[in-house]
Amino acid sequence: MSEESLQSLIETATEVRLQSLAPFSNFLVGAAVRAENGKVYTGCNIESASYGLTVCAERVAIWKALSEGERHFTELAVVADTESLTPPCGTCRQIIWEFAKHATIVLANLRGQQETVSIRDLLPRAFDARFLKEVMGHK
Ligand code: THU
Repeated sequence: MSEESLQSLIETATEVRLQSLAPFSNFLVGAAVRAENGKVYTGCNIESASYGLTVCAERVAIWKALSEGERHFTELAVVADTESLTPPCGTCRQIIWEFAKHATIVLANLRGQQETVSIRDLLPRAFDARFLKEVMGHK
């Protein structure tokens, strides 16, 4: 992962952030995930009047990529306009763990600050299909 490719992913996430449909929170988030083949998929948060149906930018980007057949990801950028960098919510952490485990996650804001983190750090002792298989193995 080159520094340049990370910066361009942040730029893409910054642009798509402006597509956010966030009339209830006014909290605009942009995400961009890069697949192993180099293709980039974007997402913004989309809020529902039935609040709980809201989807985060990260999941929109990941769903779009998965539905296009992508399975392996190298980087995921998340951009919001906050001083302390916005990390993925708990639900998105679970989805990142299951579908984009090896991606370097870069958090960024509009002031040029950024930090890279791994999903291992964000979601220790994660639940996943291994546990389901363990039980199935007993039957
Ligand atoms: N949100 C995201 O899109 N990603 C995050 O990482 C944190 C939260 C959205 C969901 C909701 O539309 C708004 O931000 C406020 O929670």
